[in-house]
Amino acid sequence: MLSSIVASKTARLLAACVCPVVGAGTLTMAIARLHGVQASQVLIGCGSVEILRMAMQAFTSRTRHLVTAAPTFETPGEYADTFAVPIRAVRVGANLKLNLSTMELEAQGAGLVYICNPNNPTGSVLGAAEMGGFVERLGRASQAPAVLVDEAYHEYVDDPSYKTSIPLAVAHRNVIVNMLARVVPSLPNVPLRRNATIRLPDPAVWASRPT
Ligand SMILES: Cc1ncc(COP(=O)(O)O)c(C=O)c1O
Repeated sequence: MLSSIVASKTARLLAACVCPVVGAGTLTMAIARLHGVQASQVLIGCGSVEILRMAMQAFTSRTRHLVTAAPTFETPGEYADTFAVPIRAVRVGANLKLNLSTMELEAQGAGLVYICNPNNPTGSVLGAAEMGGFVERLGRASQAPAVLVDEAYHEYVDDPSYKTSIPLAVAHRNVIVNMLARVVPSLPNVPLRRNATIRLPDPAVWASRPT
């Protein structure tokens, strides 16, 4: 059993570094089926960080700032520093939750709003109703910013008010959901760990990339 797992893993790793196109397509379709979205709405990244970087490069600029929380996962802010993108970092509230009303105010003219839900490192959760209202209100702006909802810790939430924002990404063209596809490493026929981003690839969103 162990030798067949090792052989399968070795074959897959060797294939992965050569031309993983076929496997990527299969994985994309499996993720789409799992979440009830179209394969064209799924983008696989090599680590979430690649996805976060793409979103920063697509939607922010020196004139379209990043809105993020403080504290939160630092990577979008680090890319903002790298790309000379202005940052508005909104302190979490006394309850350690993201301060959505202030983030909404700061989102005027922004390129991207980064929402880590649940938030790393405070562990706070935004409920589905709060997220829905936030996205709805931001979407009314004439130049609505992209909203990147990072659900890296989606599987660990037990708060019943929480739901994935994937339905929001399907309904609103400016919403992107980032997830990690964690897979049990001992299974022979699956990749160890891949990241997936569910997004609505409306060309208008990408075409609206700020300059
Ligand atoms: C909220 C969040 N998003 C993304 C990542 C990055 O994940 P990866 O290591 O898959 O790039 C992390 C890693 O700690 C994280 O905490």
